Amino acid sequence: YTSDFYPGIKRNPNFARLTPEHVSFFKSLLGSASGLVDGVSTDATEDIEPYNVDWMRKYRGRATLVLKPESTEQVSRILTYCNNNMLAVVPQGGNTGLVGGSVPVFDEIVINLQRMNKIRSFDDVSGILVADAGVVLEVADNYLAERNHMFPLDLGAKGSCQIGGNVATNAGGLRLIRYGSLHGNVLGVEAVLPDGTILDDLSKLRKNNTGYDIKQLFIGGEGTIGIITGISVFCPQRSTAVNVAYFALDSYKKVQEAFKEAKTQLSEILSAFELMDGNSQKIVSQVRGRKLPLESEAPFYCLIETSGSNTDHDSQKLENFLENVMSSEIVSDGVLAQDQTQIGDLWSCREGIPECLGHWGGVYKYDLSIPITELYDLVTATRGRLDAAGLMSASDKSLPVVDAVGYGHMGDSNLHLNVATRRYDKKVEEALEPFVYEWVAERDGSVSAEHGLGIAKKDYIGYSRNETMVKLMKQIKDLYDPKGIMNPYKYI
Ligand code: FAD
Ligand code: MLT
Ligand code: ZN
Repeated sequence: YTSDFYPGIKRNPNFARLTPEHVSFFKSLLGSASGLVDGVSTDATEDIEPYNVDWMRKYRGRATLVLKPESTEQVSRILTYCNNNMLAVVPQGGNTGLVGGSVPVFDEIVINLQRMNKIRSFDDVSGILVADAGVVLEVADNYLAERNHMFPLDLGAKGSCQIGGNVATNAGGLRLIRYGSLHGNVLGVEAVLPDGTILDDLSKLRKNNTGYDIKQLFIGGEGTIGIITGISVFCPQRSTAVNVAYFALDSYKKVQEAFKEAKTQLSEILSAFELMDGNSQKIVSQVRGRKLPLESEAPFYCLIETSGSNTDHDSQKLENFLENVMSSEIVSDGVLAQDQTQIGDLWSCREGIPECLGHWGGVYKYDLSIPITELYDLVTATRGRLDAAGLMSASDKSLPVVDAVGYGHMGDSNLHLNVATRRYDKKVEEALEPFVYEWVAERDGSVSAEHGLGIAKKDYIGYSRNETMVKLMKQIKDLYDPKGIMNPYKYI
């Protein structure tokens, strides 16, 4: 049969259907208190729905079984059995991914890592953390905070996403500009291959040039070649002085000037430079029923964070920066957080955008790398297109689109173009795709900067990767997963 949610995709008939015998095997392996959620057995204690639907409620599968192993050994035995019995699986962390990669398409068994949640070790001299894949990002970061360190990644879903899921998506987040990508910070990976082989590459070395760096394939692999069960990660010292400023600008040209000034004047203490357009901030204000930090309305806002070791010195630097950019009329208005509560409040204007955009029903999300000088032009072009097609209105409820906004990680040239809709509508999709992808490809950008491809971008990989690259990816997939049981129907 074909999936209701993906009419174009057919279930692979080579995959077996789940039988009571299979379920009995998993029960005997994991035990009754193992967190097994079983839509076919009689002792189901938990609702299976949250494991079948993604965060956006856009993608939905029909798994009847969710397995929650507690150890790498159990993951290995599950996969050996699935591989031998042609049972397809989907690895799942916190299920906060934004490309439909973490939920089944048909009846794949969900293997959720939430019970593998132990910190294995931390060395406060080297700053290297070794932990199970299922540790929630915020839990890992709080553990590190008590030891004056921090996880080298932060993002709005930190309370639910898991560090294994972060590594599997190669999430970028809010401070990549300062701490770099997980491709650099993850030093080792422990993973289980589809045939049950445990790949132990849990190195704690920062330097290790001994042949191919195989763990890199798991970082951003989106669960297509194996299940990550543990990681070792290099964690920086936590800064004792964190300062945040939020300011308004009249044009995207001025945003670029402010960014250049921030790099020059704040250099080594700059830890985030985020962009929010005026429409995204209006939506946060409207949906949350809150005042924005600045009285004046502007087409663009930016949030800057600095992290250093000397509070007086750092806040003086940020104050000077703000004075300079205001007196040179790059910035029209600005505010500096005075305490921890205000820091949280300014950040919530940025981090709250994704949730607020979902207020009307659905969101078309595009996560793009674009040369920085042209980054915002795409939002303008997209708004023009939706207007011309008569699809967008903030007030006319008969039209599908409420608004199209741009925000994102300016410091990394990563734009989030989001179209908030009252309902998913074929006409809107046709106005946006492949238009957005073509626009990005013409500028040698990327159709997925940090969220991955999952199922949402499955058909668009060709806009950012040439035939040779895609062919090599397929060969790698076949080498690691010859029976194709690992997260099937997704991008590869
Ligand atoms: P899931 O959603 O469960 O899984 C994601 C993918 O990884 C799936 O393909 C899944 O099969 C695979 N996977 C999960 N765990 C494993 C494992 N142990 N082994 C192998 N494969 C696995 N992303 C950014 O990059 N930057 C942001 O700033 C950002 N902000 C976000 C804000 C919000 C509010 C939300 C909802 C999402 C945001 N994201 C962001 C998306 C981001 O990808 C996820 O939040 C996070 O990285 C996914 O982790 P997870 O544990 O929820 O993984
Ligand atoms: C963000 O930066 O807020 C995330 O990547 C989520 C999103 O794109 O909406
Ligand atoms: Zn982002």
